[in-house]
Amino acid sequence: MTDERRRYALIGTGNRGTTMWGRDLLGGWRDSVELVAICDTNRLRAERARTMIGSNAPIYGSVEETLREAKPELVIVCTQDSNHDDIIVAALDAGCDVITEKPMTTTVEKIRRIREAEKRSGKRVDVSFNYRFAPTAARIKALLRSGAIGTLTSVDFHWYLDTRHGADYFRRWHAYVKNSGSLFVHKATHHFDLLNWYIEADPQSVAAFGELRNYGAKGPFRGTRCQGCEHASHCDYYFDVNADPFLEALYEAPSELDGYVRDACVFREDIDIPDTMTATIRYTNDVAVSYSLNTFMPIEGYHLAFNGTKGRIETRQYEKQPWETPKADEILLIKNFGGGVERIAVPHSTGGHFGGDDRMRSMIFHNGDDPLDQRAGSRAGAMSVMTGIAALQSARTGRMVAISELGDIG
Ligand SMILES: NC(=O)c1ccc[n+]([C@@H]2O[C@H](COP(=O)([O-])OP(=O)(O)OC[C@H]3O[C@@H](n4cnc5c(N)ncnc54)[C@H](O)[C@@H]3O)[C@@H](O)[C@H]2O)c1
Repeated sequence: MTDERRRYALIGTGNRGTTMWGRDLLGGWRDSVELVAICDTNRLRAERARTMIGSNAPIYGSVEETLREAKPELVIVCTQDSNHDDIIVAALDAGCDVITEKPMTTTVEKIRRIREAEKRSGKRVDVSFNYRFAPTAARIKALLRSGAIGTLTSVDFHWYLDTRHGADYFRRWHAYVKNSGSLFVHKATHHFDLLNWYIEADPQSVAAFGELRNYGAKGPFRGTRCQGCEHASHCDYYFDVNADPFLEALYEAPSELDGYVRDACVFREDIDIPDTMTATIRYTNDVAVSYSLNTFMPIEGYHLAFNGTKGRIETRQYEKQPWETPKADEILLIKNFGGGVERIAVPHSTGGHFGGDDRMRSMIFHNGDDPLDQRAGSRAGAMSVMTGIAALQSARTGRMVAISELGDIG
C-alpha cells in the first residue's frame, strides 16, 4: 500500500502555525498530510511548537535548508506578512505547492513575484481565506447568487475589533506598515476578499481615510512592554502574557533569542499604522461599498448589508460583547414593496472562525466540491491586498486611487 499523504513543511511556528496548520491539521486531517519539517528562525519557539503539535519532525532554521533537506511537496507559510513572498517563491521554485496565510503579501511588487513564480513552476498557491467558509458567509453567498435581492447595487460592511483583539495588533510587528502593510492589508484583506467574492467583480477605485486616534503616539503614557511596566496598575491595555500558559510557552522564553515580545507597549511612539479606517470602494460592475474598521471597541464582530433592486440582506455578527453572545447568526432577507422578511438562523459552528477553519481544511485536503467558489488562489489573494494598498495610499494622499494605477499583478 502506498502512502498518499502529502508531505508538508510548516514555516513559522507562532500561534497560527502551531495551532491551525500544526496541531489541528494533524488532529483532523492526519489521513491526508504528513508533517516532515518544522521551520522557524527562532529555534526555541520551533521546539516548543513541536511539542505542542505532538510531532517528531525535524526542525530547520531557514526555508532553504527545509526545502533542501526535507524535500516537502507542500509548504505552509505562517510567518510575518512581509516575508511571505520570499518563502512562497522559494517553495514554488523547489516544486512545492503552497498554502499561505493571509494576507498573501504586502506590496504590488511582491504580488507580481509570487504570481510569476506560480506560473513559472506550474504549482499552486492557496490563500487561507477562512472567512469565506464560515456558514453565515456561505449562506449569504448562496442567497446573492440566487438573485434574492435582484441586482446588487451597494454593500455596507463595518468591522469592529474589541480592546483585546484590536490592541493585539499594536503590541507586535503588525504595528508597522513595512511588516503588515497596515491593517488595511493585514486585517482588511479578509474583508476585502469577502467583498470581492460576494460581489463577483474586481475593485476599481478606492477613497479612504485612516487615522491613528488611540494607540501609538496618541497614548497618555508609554513604556517598552507590559511586563515590568511602571504604568501596569493604571493602563487599560495592560496585558499579562504569563497569565496564558500557551502564549507564555510559545513567546516568552523564546523572546530571549530574538527580542520578539508578545506584550510590547501599544503606545510606542513609532507605531505608523492607522487604528481607525474607512473606505469607499467602487467595483467594475458598478457596485459601491461603504467599509470601516475600528480597533478599540467594546464589541467584536461586524455589521453587513447588501442592497439590491429587489430588497436587502442584512446581518450582524457579534463574536464577543458585554452581554450574552447569541448562539446563532440571524440573516434577514427583506423584500421591497411589502414582500416581507425571511429570518434565517445560522447556528454558530464549533472551531476557529465559526467553523470556517475546519471547512477550509476539508476543502483543501479532502478535495471537496466547490459550488460557491470558496477555495481561494493567488489572484484572490492579490486583489484583496491591492484593495488595501489602494486604501492606504488614498488615506495618505487624500485622493481617490484607481487599482489600475498601482501596477500589474501579473
Ligand atoms: N487566517 C487567519 O484567520 C489568521 C489568523 C491569525 C494569523 N494569521 C496569519 O498567520 C501569519 C502568522 O501569524 P502569527 O500570529 O502566528 O505570527 P507570529 O509573529 O506569532 O509568528 C510568526 C513566526 O514566524 C517566524 N518567522 C518569521 N520570519 C521567518 C522566516 N523567514 N523563516 C522562518 N520563520 C520565520 C517567527 O519567528 C514567528 O515564530 C500572519 O501572516 C497572520 O496574518 C491568519
